[in-house]
Amino acid sequence: MTSILIVYQSRTGFTEKYVNWIKERITCDTVRLDQIGNVDLKSYAKIIYGAGIHAGHIQGLKTFKKHVLNLVDDKMVIFATGAAPYDEKIVTAIKQNNFSENERQAVVFFYFQSGLNYEKMPFFDKLVMKTFSKVLARKKNKSEIEDGTSQAITQSHDHSNQEFIMPMIDYLKQSKVNTSTST
Ligand SMILES: Cc1cc2nc3c(=O)[nH]c(=O)nc-3n(C[C@H](O)[C@H](O)[C@H](O)COP(=O)(O)O)c2cc1C
Repeated sequence: MTSILIVYQSRTGFTEKYVNWIKERITCDTVRLDQIGNVDLKSYAKIIYGAGIHAGHIQGLKTFKKHVLNLVDDKMVIFATGAAPYDEKIVTAIKQNNFSENERQAVVFFYFQSGLNYEKMPFFDKLVMKTFSKVLARKKNKSEIEDGTSQAITQSHDHSNQEFIMPMIDYLKQSKVNTSTST
């Protein structure tokens, strides 16, 4: 039995790619969020949840919370993947949007820049992104962030990089859980 479980949701494959990179570095079990009912959560020393961000919200986090009941537990680690480049302000905004005050103090959170994949996006997501992209492109006097976002979302791109996971890997290795890949 391994002591780390990664639960994840991935619509266009970016989060899954990060899960696979994490798996290469540490011993862990993985399960998609829609299969979470099939695993014994109590048997794991660490439970990691990862998913993409949509309009500032970590996909599936509410469902995940229903299963684990409490995010304020040193068992829990959350990560999110998003098209925006890593920035402390973005991390703060994601925490603000997704966690209660209590959770913000306690939750161990990591953010990994990914990209956009229009080819794999479900129809409705594609429609939302294309509409948002057009609205932003037409907007006058864009802020620096809006200008960067506008350029980034016009087409598919992939800025994911396995180096981004290293702070999480270091954190897990320093925790008293079995991360050895040789078992
Ligand atoms: C409808 C929609 C909304 C999105 N909103 C954001 C966002 O607010 N911030 C961000 O950084 N990326 C945003 N993205 C990009 C996704 O977060 C990114 O592609 C993510 O890695 C997808 O993960 P997945 O492929 O594992 O589902 C959005 C993508 C879609 C399709």
